[in-house]
Amino acid sequence: MLSKPARRSAQASSPRRRLRRISRPLLISVAFTLAAATALTFAPALSAPGVASVEATSEEKRRFAGFDRQIVANLDRSFLHGRRIFRDDTFGDEAFWGDALQLHRAVQGERFGGIGGGLTPRTALGLGLKIDVRALPRSLQNDLKSGRVNLDDPAVTLALLEMDAVVGVKGFFAGDRLRSIGITCALCHSSVDDALAPGIGERLDGWAARDLDVGSIIALAPDLSPFSKLLGVGQDDVRKVLRGWGPGKFDAELLLDGKVVNPNTGRSAATLIPPAFGLAGVNLHTWTGWGSVTHWNAFVANLEMQGKGTFYDPRLDDATKFPIAAANKFGHVRNTPDLITSKLPALHFYQLAIPAPTPPAGSFDAVAASRGQVVFSGKGQCATCHVPPLFTEPGWNMHTAAEIGIDDFQAKRSPDERYRTAPLKGLWSHQKGGFYHDGRFATLSEVVQHYNSAKGLGLSGQEAADLVQYLLSI
Ligand code: HEC
Ligand code: HEC
Repeated sequence: MLSKPARRSAQASSPRRRLRRISRPLLISVAFTLAAATALTFAPALSAPGVASVEATSEEKRRFAGFDRQIVANLDRSFLHGRRIFRDDTFGDEAFWGDALQLHRAVQGERFGGIGGGLTPRTALGLGLKIDVRALPRSLQNDLKSGRVNLDDPAVTLALLEMDAVVGVKGFFAGDRLRSIGITCALCHSSVDDALAPGIGERLDGWAARDLDVGSIIALAPDLSPFSKLLGVGQDDVRKVLRGWGPGKFDAELLLDGKVVNPNTGRSAATLIPPAFGLAGVNLHTWTGWGSVTHWNAFVANLEMQGKGTFYDPRLDDATKFPIAAANKFGHVRNTPDLITSKLPALHFYQLAIPAPTPPAGSFDAVAASRGQVVFSGKGQCATCHVPPLFTEPGWNMHTAAEIGIDDFQAKRSPDERYRTAPLKGLWSHQKGGFYHDGRFATLSEVVQHYNSAKGLGLSGQEAADLVQYLLSI
């Protein structure tokens, strides 16, 4: 009979070895990305939804020489590098999620050297985690399609992590053993198209992860003492807060000010995960306009993902507004080595390259939408703030709570104490979880009714319905 540890390792390795035999060679993915980049640079026509297509003239093509050539080379490099960072880079945050919180041990389960029952693929999918079909060998895709994969076995989750197939989650292995775990930007800002099965498909970078229950995932971690210490409450209370967020939400300000509930609404202080597409041309970012895309990228990589880098924002020294951030000098982060700063240019570049997705044909009533467009720029006064085609203001795109007729709780948790005019393109792709920063309006119809009454617009039922169709069309 096998000794206990030997038995455990036999159990640990067999199912994964079986799956690994069929894992794809790395070369395929490299060839794929290079082909995509080449197509990008030399495609005769470049177009983005809502923007006139731009065709290079023969004169422009001829002038890809000298410094122009360097610019094009930078475009290719930044695109590829930026995409890799967005999808794959943990910035060293496994030191937090794995080494400190021990999240990987809950994923492993006791059978494979961790604790508890382990995370089954079914539970992982139920928590909104997504599987990148391109990372799966063809035979496994077939097995999944025909239900020959045991979705109740945590060994399958470990195998998927080993194949790098779980979107936004990186497993770090020592041989067969999962020794740590980290997260990437793609966790919250990507989805998949469900091509193979619900939760399994081609990546959709930039789409808001509205199925993802980040709070419940973090709450699986055996050791939440880093949160406990900062917030000054017990781990059980931390878990309660995290589980109270719900799918599609995260609280980026929790570890700055320790606030957990909006007293005006009684709702959790967490906000919806916004899309990270269609951001080029938009000045300030996040629901409350913390800064530019690259300011926020540095903020998130250092303070939310807990990567190892450098971050400077002395606005966080305001001890009244941000007591936890000020006490812990979160506005003055320095790590050596710095695993974030060198990646910011390419990451920024890739973020700006992601367009808002075009609504699928037939997903809205085109005739009603064209009537709605007239309401949007006329009687509804929407275009005064949501200026087409950016759908936010060119310039300082910020408004007080009173201007949009809501409470100022979330605005007050930010430096400018205002709400940022949300860029509306691609709204159709993130209807789950509702609208406005905390999802307070369940549907677009409720949003329109809110403006109608708060601003006394006097829109008829027909005009309101047309406006909704227009919102679904942009
Ligand atoms: C754990 C989930 C999570 C992860 C991981 C995450 N984000 Fe976010 N992101 C959010 C949330 C929530 C917000 C909204 C924050 C707010 O308004 O307070 C946000 C906002 C943003 C915005 C602003 C979008 C807009 O509407 O202007 C950008 C850009 C962004 N994130 C980029 C990134 C990048 C790049 C990374 C990786 C370095 C990243 N995020 C990692 C949850 C996440
Ligand atoms: C005074 C400026 C202003 C006007 C006028 C305005 N909006 Fe907004 N809009 C905002 C701001 C600011 C937000 C972000 C609210 C938040 O963060 O909770 C927003 C959010 C939204 C959202 C939610 C976006 C999301 O991702 O959840 C929709 C939809 C929307 N507005 C549609 C409209 C329509 C339709 C009109 C006209 C009837 C309109 N807005 C008029 C400033 C404005």
